[in-house]
Amino acid sequence: AGTLGDAAAAKGRYFGTAVAANHLGEAPYASTLDAQFDSVTPENEMKWDAVEGSRDSFTFTAADQIVSHAQSKGMKVRGHTLVWHSQLPGWVGGLGATDLRAAMNNHITQVMTHYKGKIHSWDVVNEAFQDGNSGARRSSPFQDKLGDGFIEEAFRTARTVDPTAKLCYNDYNTDGQNAKSNAVYAMVKDFKQRGVPIDCVGFQSHFNSNSPVPSDYRANLQRFADLGLDVQITELDIEGSGAAQAANYTSVVNACLAVTRCTGLTVWGVTDKYSWRSSGTPLLFDGDYNKKPAYDAVLAAL
Ligand code: XIL
Repeated sequence: AGTLGDAAAAKGRYFGTAVAANHLGEAPYASTLDAQFDSVTPENEMKWDAVEGSRDSFTFTAADQIVSHAQSKGMKVRGHTLVWHSQLPGWVGGLGATDLRAAMNNHITQVMTHYKGKIHSWDVVNEAFQDGNSGARRSSPFQDKLGDGFIEEAFRTARTVDPTAKLCYNDYNTDGQNAKSNAVYAMVKDFKQRGVPIDCVGFQSHFNSNSPVPSDYRANLQRFADLGLDVQITELDIEGSGAAQAANYTSVVNACLAVTRCTGLTVWGVTDKYSWRSSGTPLLFDGDYNKKPAYDAVLAAL
């Protein structure tokens, strides 16, 4: 198979990328996307501030553009993200607990209803845990006003709205075994034991010299999979260049392929020139859409 999507499909996985609606009109962007990938994640267009900037007024134009593009090319779509402390409009933080709970459930309901049947996996809750050794939940309007139970409530609501979508918890710095991933693991284990509807855990996998590919990456993915749910690599990018970067990409692909329930990988952008790491070169195609050594390494590993 000569493309990332085809090679991954031959291994029973998908290979996706984050996509920004405003680049779809750039011919080499679209042709690289269409040729190589079989799944897309809207990079910003489904976030709360993008779809519900004011209460109960929903705008899906940009996200719809990405979903239609993907559907016309036979690509899957990952939904990103329903409940997150960031890119959250100010009005949400101004609500009291009762209104906030209603607004959260309404947001999940409206967005998932709009995309019902079109999303293979939803990041229902994103980044709800703190960094560091505490294993504590991160402060957010949801956490501070609704308590730990907001996560469970979000998943329960999501399941009722679109029972066909896989429901994921997604986070970063949880890629190896550490205090943060242990805390997420404990939550997921509890959810599985109590029947809270969760189907997958997303590992963002933003790697750089401060946060390299962990040596226990595969083992960490496996322990989550052993809880009885899927794992996905959701926002992969790796700082660096050349052979060193390529070797890191190889180890990530190998880790996923070694875990039966690792169902797919998504890189966080098509080309280095539009990476959110604006000064870096963490992706598979350079700014001129040339394939990098990292691309060849991924294709060879798949
Ligand atoms: C980033 C986008 O790539 C940027 O364009 C935006 O300015 C900020 O968000 N974790 C996530 C993603 O879950 O949504 C973030 O995406 C990167 C970190």
